Amino acid sequence: MTQTVDERPTPTTAPALEVREGRKSFGAVHALRGVDITVRAGEVTALVGDNGAGKSTMIKCIAGIFPFDSGKVLVNGAPASIHGPGQASAAGIEVVYQDLALCDNLDIVHNMFLGREMKKGLRLNETAMETKAADVLASLSVRTVRSIRQQVASLSGGQRQTVAIARAVLWNSKIVILDEPTAALGVAQTEQVLQLVRRLADAGLAVLLISHNMNDVFEVADSINVLYLGQTAAQVRTSDSTRAEVIELITSGAPSTGEAVQPRRDRPATSTTTNGSRPE
Ligand SMILES: Nc1ncnc2c1ncn2[C@@H]1O[C@H](COP(=O)(O)OP(=O)(O)O)[C@@H](O)[C@H]1O
Ligand SMILES: [Mg+2]
Repeated sequence: MTQTVDERPTPTTAPALEVREGRKSFGAVHALRGVDITVRAGEVTALVGDNGAGKSTMIKCIAGIFPFDSGKVLVNGAPASIHGPGQASAAGIEVVYQDLALCDNLDIVHNMFLGREMKKGLRLNETAMETKAADVLASLSVRTVRSIRQQVASLSGGQRQTVAIARAVLWNSKIVILDEPTAALGVAQTEQVLQLVRRLADAGLAVLLISHNMNDVFEVADSINVLYLGQTAAQVRTSDSTRAEVIELITSGAPSTGEAVQPRRDRPATSTTTNGSRPE
């Protein structure tokens, strides 16, 4: 299945991340039935699709929460075997999940180093962590937090999202995956977070942005990958696409004209076939 239509004229370097023919079933539920995605460094790639299309499953597979049943994952053009979150981190992949997993009772610095604290002998190296946290926030031009020693409980939704994103960037990550970062935010905070998302890409990271919001997608994404019932309907350049075209892909799995994808008629939840395919 070659549904991906996002081919840049002269790609000089391999994409930071590629998935080819990714499949994943939960018992009889074929959540992913052939997904393809290309995520390039320096770009924001949006992953869109209706509820149940398979977006969360796809990022969990990429992040090693559970591996794909079959298919290929390539990192910088080389096949990668990601069978756990540790391997995803080692490959430079960090995910900011929707629940953010921040600890309200800790300050920003301690949240950014949660589980990966810097130590000096037996003690935490507070000075080094504080300096590094401040550097990362400054490098992302984050000016919305008053003090990095503030407890996370006192932060706004947008600020919490910022801390979670900065934490993901701290670990020498090359590929940052954001699951609906603006879903719970108001207009002004959404704008701040979108600007941060854009800066991540401008700083050279490969950003994969899961979103429901076409305004967000068209504001920051360079490329849009559409999932439809567990399959990739298309990946298009934002500059070559209209909202209507993307919405058509989301709702029907096929463009109104042009190279049509052939979405399978069976719905994932009711399919009776078993997916016994193995990695090629
Ligand atoms: N752990 C699971 N067990 C069984 N089915 C699941 C599980 N996770 C997701 N699914 C199913 O996989 C399909 C895709 O879900 P999901 O990846 O959450 O979609 P999205 O994030 O696009 O809304 C849905 O039909 C969902 O019910
Ligand atoms: Mg989801």
